[in-house]
Amino acid sequence: MFVSLEGPDGVGKTTQAALLAERLRATGLEVVQCREPGGTELGERVRAVLLDPQVSMGDRAEALLFAAARAEITQEVIAPALDRGAWVVCDRFIDSSLVYQGIARGLGVAPIREISLFATGGVLPARTLVMHGVDRRDDEPDRMEAAGADFHARVADGFLELAGLEPDRIRLIDAVGTEDDVAERIWAALEGLRP
Ligand code: TYD
Repeated sequence: MFVSLEGPDGVGKTTQAALLAERLRATGLEVVQCREPGGTELGERVRAVLLDPQVSMGDRAEALLFAAARAEITQEVIAPALDRGAWVVCDRFIDSSLVYQGIARGLGVAPIREISLFATGGVLPARTLVMHGVDRRDDEPDRMEAAGADFHARVADGFLELAGLEPDRIRLIDAVGTEDDVAERIWAALEGLRP
């Protein structure tokens, strides 16, 4: 079973991905936790380039680099895990590209969906949890985080727009409250998939 966590920067996805993986493991399941971009040798190197504030790049190159990292982690980590019946909990996946590159950069959702699905060979999460409503960013901004307030407003709106387009796969999770509150909402949103 493949589940992704999504949302704007600083919404608390990484903490929640870890809590979810732990809770699923406690039921006896094998769980593979990953994050995007990254998770493979190639993916980590591409991540370093993508997030380096010293590197300038065009929007199309950026979109293709995110897709390249995604192709690699899908082939090397995610698809093999799904094949052996494990759960995969991924911190960001295709929807980050649809929103950041497709909507916020303005490249269009349809072409970005096409390159992302080409990259994953059609692999898509069974359910995607989009967290929204808080911003806990407090560290030095990376290249994406430095993109400006307008860009990040488009990202936040873009996730809500996307959730409306695919209500079966994408569930909105209110990220306001304690870690435990949010973890409970996420657990509830996996009804029908989890044990
Ligand atoms: P990351 O450190 O994972 O951000 P966060 O901890 O906020 O999740 O950095 C990934 C950055 O890259 C983040 O700003 C979102 C952006 N991103 C895209 O623009 N497109 C993508 O396809 C992905 C996976 C991430």
